[in-house]
Amino acid sequence: MQTQQQITSDLYYVGASEGRHPLFENIYPVANGMSYNSYLLLDEKTVLMDTCDEAVRDIFLTKVRTVLNERQLDYIFVHHMEPDHAALLDEVMTLYPTAQLVCSSKTVTLINQFFNRDVSARAIIVKDGDTLSTGRHTFSFYTAPMVHWPEVIVSYDQTDCILFSADAFGTFGELDGSLFADDIDLSTFLPEARRYYANIVGKYGNQVQALLKKAATLNIQQICPLHGPIWRKNLGWFIEKYQRWSTYTPEADAVLIIYGSIYGHTEQAARILATKLSERGISNIALYDVSKTHPSVLVAEAFRCAAIVIASATYNNGIFPPVETVVLDWKAHALQNRKFYLIQNGSWAPASGKLLTAMLSDMKGCSTDENILTLTSALKPGQESDLNALADRIQQGLA
Ligand code: FEO
Repeated sequence: MQTQQQITSDLYYVGASEGRHPLFENIYPVANGMSYNSYLLLDEKTVLMDTCDEAVRDIFLTKVRTVLNERQLDYIFVHHMEPDHAALLDEVMTLYPTAQLVCSSKTVTLINQFFNRDVSARAIIVKDGDTLSTGRHTFSFYTAPMVHWPEVIVSYDQTDCILFSADAFGTFGELDGSLFADDIDLSTFLPEARRYYANIVGKYGNQVQALLKKAATLNIQQICPLHGPIWRKNLGWFIEKYQRWSTYTPEADAVLIIYGSIYGHTEQAARILATKLSERGISNIALYDVSKTHPSVLVAEAFRCAAIVIASATYNNGIFPPVETVVLDWKAHALQNRKFYLIQNGSWAPASGKLLTAMLSDMKGCSTDENILTLTSALKPGQESDLNALADRIQQGLA
């Protein structure tokens, strides 16, 4: 038995959550599961907004069948072709052979690539501003290329003022019963929403900005994303976060310190620095051991914090590998507008600082402090003044 969840008088939630798969996209840890949202509208015409991930196939198909209650499916809006939403599209097209697809032209190509199926005869191709009436409802469509695939569209229900936003405004994590963001603790929600944004969409800030500009022209009362809760109150809170993240603007005057330490000496320097920052009145300090922290967490934290300290051992005459992985991930996600500070350690040939400086040099809007604090094996008593000077520079950089 499946509980049908109603969103409005004629809009139903037919997605589902699951927590058995430990990784989303086989890369991102999702300890709190994942929701795969899909929506079904019962207007004069029936409309399915996307399908779901294979992981929730049975529950999704049961919900669709139950909500349709013997009615035919008239339209499938395909907002996004990534398989966490389109894995079941081929099967749904077969189950409902008269349903027409509403999608971008690139979607038709991708359907052929994924399913070896030419759907051009049953596809209604939409472009920016195109509209479609389903009876009581009229939808308009907007392209959202590279948020975060090229074929993405979002749809706007002009009648009930609902934006179906594809991956935008999603989050990691399952839905715990309620569908709505106003029923959940946003202090718990925010870190996972940030981690989702930074890692899934973060690279495409300009494209997110373009989508936000289109959305700003609409009267949006509700946002129905493809992951996470539905927003029907306080939408501005989340939109403001998207404004910040998509312009690579830090959320806070926070200091992120990551350390890669083999025997604890580099870690010790990082910890003392954190204490010295605290003594200077900086309250928002985040300290992480890269060897124990998934890179996706550090991508998200880098999107949050204004200043970033990298403390790295030298390893094989290079950067300690887990540190290098994180920096590569920051670059891959186009992190911008941050101030970096470096601590390097090397018992006979410290090299990580110089190599990190080179790696960071082409990151847009970023600067790296030229004064690299160098440890040779361990922090020496006389180096306290160096740590004090580094803490002073970080404090001044935040001012
Ligand atoms: Fe949730 Fe890009 O798929």
